[in-house]
Amino acid sequence: MIQHQLLAGKRGVIFGALDESSIAWHVAKQCVAEGATITLTNAPVAMRFGTIQKLGEELNAEVISADATSAEDLTNLFQKSIEVLGGPIDFVLHSIGMSLNVRKGKTYTDLNHEWMHKTLDISAMSFHRMMQVLFNTEAMADGGSILSLSYIAAQRVFPDYSEMADAKALLESFARSFGYHFGIKKGVRVNTISQSPTRTTAGSGVKGFDDFFSYAETMSPLGNASAEDCANYCVSLFSDYTKAVTMQNLYHDGGFSSMGVNPAILSQE
Ligand SMILES: NC(=O)c1ccc[n+]([C@@H]2O[C@H](COP(=O)([O-])OP(=O)(O)OC[C@H]3O[C@@H](n4cnc5c(N)ncnc54)[C@H](O)[C@@H]3O)[C@@H](O)[C@H]2O)c1
Repeated sequence: MIQHQLLAGKRGVIFGALDESSIAWHVAKQCVAEGATITLTNAPVAMRFGTIQKLGEELNAEVISADATSAEDLTNLFQKSIEVLGGPIDFVLHSIGMSLNVRKGKTYTDLNHEWMHKTLDISAMSFHRMMQVLFNTEAMADGGSILSLSYIAAQRVFPDYSEMADAKALLESFARSFGYHFGIKKGVRVNTISQSPTRTTAGSGVKGFDDFFSYAETMSPLGNASAEDCANYCVSLFSDYTKAVTMQNLYHDGGFSSMGVNPAILSQE
């Protein structure tokens, strides 16, 4: 684990650590290793598994339950976090995604639109809602950093990613639109990281994930970026070394997004 105390003295809130495979789990550990103090949060249902409590104990981080579709829960979360951490929040990671249509195997041309509402609410609107609460309650520190995790299906077609592609397109748009307002008001930056396929609960829920994972692994000159790599990238974006980076969708994918053809794929049987 790299350690440079890049986040010494900073306070953060990390959404979405469900279990040891979660990208947010790795980000939380790396942020603390880099000197930050944090609170952890997840949906009430995720609390029942108990693994997040274990992480909380390991990192000396309070775990606060919040459903990201509830502004009331989010208001309570940020208020409590400020109390526990002893001041305004320097960085926030939004690492939340869920699609009922994907989970229940609905094809893109036969989606249940009630479920689609839920997908967009949980996976994209929650990012806007979270930022709106932070913005209106003055919970963010000046010069802070807000990040969410996206996927290249927002720009290119990956048929099995289904409606999550549309949710990610909306998520990335929120980063740009809210990034403007947060920049003007408080010098806070807002970005999304477009991450390689990563073996996690949410990732593995996508049909054909293993093929998708190995295709990207072969296609990318550096191979797929791991969850640990993603955690290091998040730390750099929470740190003072990236103060002028905002309203961007940043590819963290071993070069995948710039590739057209890789002969290594063509030579496969
Ligand atoms: N795994 C991949 O291949 C991959 C690639 C690119 C981007 N991402 C994105 O990374 C993020 C994290 O996913 P992950 O792969 O670590 O999987 P994960 O399943 O570990 O994380 C998803 C999290 O969302 C939380 N969540 C769901 N509904 C919620 C709600 N209503 N309120 C609060 N939290 C809620 C879950 O409890 C879980 O902790 C997601 O946005 C995902 O789309 C994942």
